[in-house]
Amino acid sequence: MSDFKAILSNIYQNVSKTNDKGTVATYIPELADIDINNFGIHLRTVNGQHYGIGDFNKPFSIQSISKVLALSKAMELVGESIWKRVDVEPSGNPFNHLSLLEIENGIPRNPLINSGAIVIADILVSSLKNPKQDFLNYVRDITGDTTINFNEDVAYSEKITGFKNYAAANLLKSFNNLNNPVEEVLDFYFHQCSIEMSCEQLTNVFFFLANKGNCLLNKARLTKTQAKRINAIMLTCGFYDEAGEFAFEVGLPGKSGVGGGIVALLPDYFVITTWAPGLNKKGNSKLGMLTLEAFTTKTKLSVF
Ligand code: DON
Repeated sequence: MSDFKAILSNIYQNVSKTNDKGTVATYIPELADIDINNFGIHLRTVNGQHYGIGDFNKPFSIQSISKVLALSKAMELVGESIWKRVDVEPSGNPFNHLSLLEIENGIPRNPLINSGAIVIADILVSSLKNPKQDFLNYVRDITGDTTINFNEDVAYSEKITGFKNYAAANLLKSFNNLNNPVEEVLDFYFHQCSIEMSCEQLTNVFFFLANKGNCLLNKARLTKTQAKRINAIMLTCGFYDEAGEFAFEVGLPGKSGVGGGIVALLPDYFVITTWAPGLNKKGNSKLGMLTLEAFTTKTKLSVF
């Protein structure tokens, strides 16, 4: 058993010294104002070890990481029928790219790019009685943590800057791949992206994906096969046009968000979350990628 505490402290110290920390997202003030020096890591193993370092307890905007949780809830509710409306191929394009969607007749490449996540949001709006509150409760119930919440300011800023998301939703609607009104689906989507969690909370919520679908509270949230499917999609599509690079450098299924968070996991072994808000040119956390690359290299723990 590796000494994760020593390994992570060592990586944290080394990576903290990086001069070029990337740049924080500037498209909304709530992200532009975040201090680039925030840096946290939290790890939990399926056999009960857990360890946090730095700003691992500070909540941040989980943004696109929420797409995995929305997908998980949609799989629980409607199962395999999702795949009639969304594909499972990497896009090789930025998260908000649009032209492929038109060429491919309104079927998004995968559920982790924006157009795919908007279809998943549409499924949840159709299937849940009070979509926003029910989804928030779903996320809270996974670990029993009722402090997890939306950030209404972030949701509003997303709405007033979300031109490409409106374009994607309208394009989906034109191809009959959106059943609810654009405004309603995007209101849900902007709220899901606005959820805030710390590294520790995210690690704990994502635990079920490393633990054959069973959450920390020992309740089944998905079947083992469904967890496998989500992990496969994270591995191939979790980092947009940097998914290949992440698999190459890190070798784990994972998901990034424009708030600077990354969750990655090794099935049956561990979940690790990093938060460092400076992003690289592809929109993924610069220090987060360095941390995870160093972690899987030092521990030799990856899916490959
Ligand atoms: O849809 C958007 O623009 C954002 N709310 C989510 C973006 C995001 O996190 C992209 N990924 N890194």
